[in-house]
Amino acid sequence: MKLARTLAAAMAGLALACAVHAQSLPKVVILATGGTIAGAGATAANSATYQAAKVPVDKLIAGIPEIGKLAAVRGEQVFQIASESFTDEHLLQLGRRVAALAKQDDVDGIVVTHGTDTLEETAFFLNLVVPTDKPVVVVGSMRPGTALSADGALNLYNAVATAADKSARGKGVLAVMNDEIFTGRDVTKAVNIRTEAFKSPWGALGMVVEGRTYWFRAPVKRHTLNSEFGIDAIKALPPVGIAYGHGNAGDAAYRALAAQGAKALVHAGTGNGSVARQVVPALRELRAQGVQIVRSARVAGGGFVLRNAEQPDDEYDWVVAHDLNPQKARILAALALARGADAREMQRIFLEY
Ligand code: DGL
Repeated sequence: MKLARTLAAAMAGLALACAVHAQSLPKVVILATGGTIAGAGATAANSATYQAAKVPVDKLIAGIPEIGKLAAVRGEQVFQIASESFTDEHLLQLGRRVAALAKQDDVDGIVVTHGTDTLEETAFFLNLVVPTDKPVVVVGSMRPGTALSADGALNLYNAVATAADKSARGKGVLAVMNDEIFTGRDVTKAVNIRTEAFKSPWGALGMVVEGRTYWFRAPVKRHTLNSEFGIDAIKALPPVGIAYGHGNAGDAAYRALAAQGAKALVHAGTGNGSVARQVVPALRELRAQGVQIVRSARVAGGGFVLRNAEQPDDEYDWVVAHDLNPQKARILAALALARGADAREMQRIFLEY
């Protein structure tokens, strides 16, 4: 009898100790949106043939019990879609949810699971509109969880480790993929069928190894608490189109985008954002009609578009996207337009964010 009482007391003590420990853990919310990290393939050999956006967030979390040692985690299923299908409305809805959670005292960090195709756009958008210094970490995977050597579980474990880590505070929105920590500003999907898929032209900020973060640099561009773009003030994102520069280019795409209502056009230019001479007249005409023209570059991997280099941007009243790729330039141009920025103000914004 005495033994039973001793055992019961020990169990109660253990349960209390676990409860106290769980209470002491950082509180991390995982917002799930879909993508390959929630994908499922027919066989373990299907690492590239699968259906994205199938596995619910609670099952993702249950599949990685080790996460429970890093943080007290709960999940919310915000969407269940492949990320190529994200719209600006999805971005705004997700941004509002992240901002609301970040305001809560019982939330120490946020993870967003996301398809990798447009992960870089969502991470940049959140970096610009969520006013918090709490860690917000976007994560995806290149293989579904059903595949041999799936990368999602460790990516999600690393993302929670980063979101739970006080040292990740104040660094803006981050993206964690393949053991590396990137700033949401620069990160881009550079490879479309390998697990080492994400790069930043300016390098990763650090790494996560066995649940610990190691930092080697910090962002210098404006973000989160230092951003003028608060999500609560954004009702809608003005439409911005992207047209690709190439040999034998014509101006039909630019005219069609403007005719459909684009308020700015991002030119994914050859080289240093160059514009074919046969396209310049259309862009000047559209600029005169009030459409903003932003010169970005189709060249991935580094460098930046230099103002007034091969194009007289001052004379044409055009904007250069600096080092932002076309898909990120679209996000920033839309936010600038939402604040009524003219070309001069938009250029300031492109140089500061
Ligand atoms: N359909 C793609 C997406 O949701 C799958 C790619 C991925 O998530 O890795 O972005």
